[in-house]
Amino acid sequence: MNPSIDILDPNQKPAFIIERLWNLLLPWVCVFEYGVGKWRQSLYLARKWIELQVQDKNSEFLEILKEICTKEHISNISIEKPSEAQNHILEKSFDAFLCIRVLHFLKTKEAEKVIQNMKEHTKIGWYNVLQFFLKQTEHKAEYFFPDIPELENFYHWWKIIEKTEVKITEPSETTNGREMHQIGIIFQKL
Ligand SMILES: C[S@@+](CC[C@H](N)C(=O)[O-])C[C@H]1O[C@@H](n2cnc3c(N)ncnc32)[C@H](O)[C@@H]1O
Repeated sequence: MNPSIDILDPNQKPAFIIERLWNLLLPWVCVFEYGVGKWRQSLYLARKWIELQVQDKNSEFLEILKEICTKEHISNISIEKPSEAQNHILEKSFDAFLCIRVLHFLKTKEAEKVIQNMKEHTKIGWYNVLQFFLKQTEHKAEYFFPDIPELENFYHWWKIIEKTEVKITEPSETTNGREMHQIGIIFQKL
């Protein structure tokens, strides 16, 4: 077994917004996660029998996720190859998309493409779940730190089901020890 499975805790708690999403899902839905990372959102849903397709540009994370799935006999997560992550090719529609703490890694044009792609491939009546950080002075202008009105503008004809705002201070590779203002939104396609 790859020793890194022991280093990365496979039982991390999901984001609050994902627990909220879980209450809105039905057993047969299929969810796509952009930037699955260390899998805390997708593993939580997969263990509750939700069907998932996930991608990430980091092949190491995907390899470890495959090992966790094999070890736990999880067969309801389909893992894309990292090369596909760059192109965002979607061949079907999904009931929900997750894009949790990923937008700030993307340049504005790429982030807009990702959002457009998620919106187009969401079935009517279903959800996009985004969690993102508000811009701070030290953030580079080219990366995507939308404010709430800007994001709501992208989802102009969608309904907001849930909106959470939290200041996070815990040290992590994302926050780099700084306090960051994090927004989570569930949009429903009307
Ligand atoms: C902070 S992690 C969040 C992971 C996960 N969504 C979560 O909530 O725990 C951001 C992830 O986005 C991935 N990522 C960054 N840019 C990406 C891109 N262009 N395509 C796919 N994944 C990307 C990174 O590799 C990383 O795993």
